[in-house]
Amino acid sequence: ALVTLKQILQEADQSGYGVGSFNVVNMETIIGTIKAAEETRSPIIMQAAQVRLKHSPLHLLGPMMLEAAKRALVPVAVHLDHGTDLAVIKQALDLGFTSVMFDGSHLPLEKNIAETLKVVKLARNYGASVEAEIGRVGGSEDNSEDIEMVTTQVCDAQQFYEGTGVDALAIAIGNVHGIYKSKPRLQFQRIREIDGVVAAPLVLHGGSGITVDDFRQCIQCGIKKINVQTATLTNIVEQVKQLLQLNKQVDYFTYHHSIIDAAYVSVKHHIEAFQSNNHA
Ligand code: 13P
Ligand code: ZN
Ligand code: NA
Repeated sequence: ALVTLKQILQEADQSGYGVGSFNVVNMETIIGTIKAAEETRSPIIMQAAQVRLKHSPLHLLGPMMLEAAKRALVPVAVHLDHGTDLAVIKQALDLGFTSVMFDGSHLPLEKNIAETLKVVKLARNYGASVEAEIGRVGGSEDNSEDIEMVTTQVCDAQQFYEGTGVDALAIAIGNVHGIYKSKPRLQFQRIREIDGVVAAPLVLHGGSGITVDDFRQCIQCGIKKINVQTATLTNIVEQVKQLLQLNKQVDYFTYHHSIIDAAYVSVKHHIEAFQSNNHA
């Protein structure tokens, strides 16, 4: 069933697990993601990143995500990831997305607050939730840039939350988009401190490459939503490569099922790491 982000994260908070927010790019990744959630009886968030819409147009991908969520046997929120463009955010809301992220993390704090507030006001008209970001998660969404991580300051988080009233807040505590160049060193104490001054659930971007132990410690410190993209896309490429190397006469639908299965395996692994299984 299609549900709001707020509802999913509230239940996660009450029961002490984290919810995976899985990027999807096509029908195969949607099918694999929903299959993993249904089989493990887990609530999930399915998200489309603005930067990927040049490959997967929102007017096609969005309705597929929403239809899959409505038919799912588990609660599914449908979310726009890293929205920077008000027009794209509005398009997602018009389609029926239950939440949107506005990413103003590159802006100075005051400007980020002002721009985020515009999105909060817009989303309220749709009954949708808003995620925003302060500090800067390292790496970049599509690996096109190597952005340096800027740790979120506790006082900034408090000021930002009080100024915007967002429903979820993404923070930077050593997490990086894409592959980690060296072992991630997450600042768990900083998560606790931010959680102490921000009433909204906290979001961890850059989930790929983090160990199960570190995920669980993040959740204990106050993280509720965890974004995963690279791990799933990498697994798909690896599985398809193996299939094509092993079997010279592979037919299209074997290839198609290999994509679904690779997405399913990655999503299932993360659901179990976040311990949201058996909660739907
Ligand atoms: P990874 O690609 O590192 O999993 O990060 C995903 C993400 O933060 C999407 O917003
Ligand atoms: Zn992200
Ligand atoms: Na990552």
